[in-house]
Amino acid sequence: MSEPVVDLRSDTLTKPTPAMRRAMMAAEVGDDVWGEDPNVNALQEESAALLGKEAALYVPSGTMANLVSVKAHTQPGDEVIIHPLSHTVRYESAGGAMVAGVQWRPLGNADGTLPLAEVEAAIYQGDNPHFAPTRLICLENTHNALGGTVLPLASLDALAALARAKGLPMHLDGARLLNAAVALDVQATRIAAAFDSTSLCFSKGLGAPVGSIVAGSKAFIARCTRFRKMFGGGMRQAGFMAAAARYALRHHVTRLAEDHEHARRLAAAIADEPHLELIYGMPQTNIVFFRCTHPQRSMAELAEGLKARGVLIGPTGPDAARAVTHLDVDGAGIERAIAALHAVLKG
Ligand SMILES: Cc1ncc(COP(=O)(O)O)c(C=O)c1O
Repeated sequence: MSEPVVDLRSDTLTKPTPAMRRAMMAAEVGDDVWGEDPNVNALQEESAALLGKEAALYVPSGTMANLVSVKAHTQPGDEVIIHPLSHTVRYESAGGAMVAGVQWRPLGNADGTLPLAEVEAAIYQGDNPHFAPTRLICLENTHNALGGTVLPLASLDALAALARAKGLPMHLDGARLLNAAVALDVQATRIAAAFDSTSLCFSKGLGAPVGSIVAGSKAFIARCTRFRKMFGGGMRQAGFMAAAARYALRHHVTRLAEDHEHARRLAAAIADEPHLELIYGMPQTNIVFFRCTHPQRSMAELAEGLKARGVLIGPTGPDAARAVTHLDVDGAGIERAIAALHAVLKG
């Protein structure tokens, strides 16, 4: 029997485990647009508690979680301070501009944090008609495009103190918030406490097939619920998916540490290869970005060679690629990926 493909392109590619599928099959469901799906209601309550917020809302995707949040915090014509390499700015199809009508004010440090003094200087709350009023600050943790970086708690607290002093809300794209919590060995509430609202994706490292949560105050979640409906994201018997997310919260959180260990093993092997280099150093969580400096072999050729050996990575540029560890890649899979890398570079 041929060995399974080791798919490191993304942690969104996981398939539900047999036990998760059983939980989905057994789920009691109802019409969630009417607030009658018991699994969605339970997921929302459990997520609000996990994140230390008053309320939470199940939405179809991480993109919609960020979009309803930005929309609920702002008015068209407002400005939002956000890292230029954040998923929301780069990979959400200009939803903030198109749907919420906001203007991004990109400011960021190389480690995914925001530069405090520059943020303070950029905040505009006056009545000069030339300027868009600042209405929201957004962060991403872990920071995907910067290699799954975990933002230091002190940087979150300092930014939160500034935002509160200015009366500005903060939103967290917490697609991988639990990877950050596991890496720091803190409760998710410790990270979420710096924010007025946070998202969390079930369909990434947690291994559920669909869905994200947005958590915040009751009034904020009521606004998000209206926008979810407006954007076409009101789902009916969504409890089948919510049951998978609830299963993931019970069984797939502490194991994220394994993914982080796998990413470090892979990164160490990459660092040992003379013609490969880590772009962001040793990973803190489950994302490894690396560059190919081989004089005769491009990253596309390296990826093709790996594919022929049953290992998939995601090229991100002419000489760069991303490898993401997750639930469907075990220790043996990582060893196969490492052996394939060595073989292709030697061949
Ligand atoms: C940091 C971050 N935020 C948001 C998203 C969007 O999630 P979705 O693909 O569910 O829309 C992603 C997806 O990879 C992500 O990495």
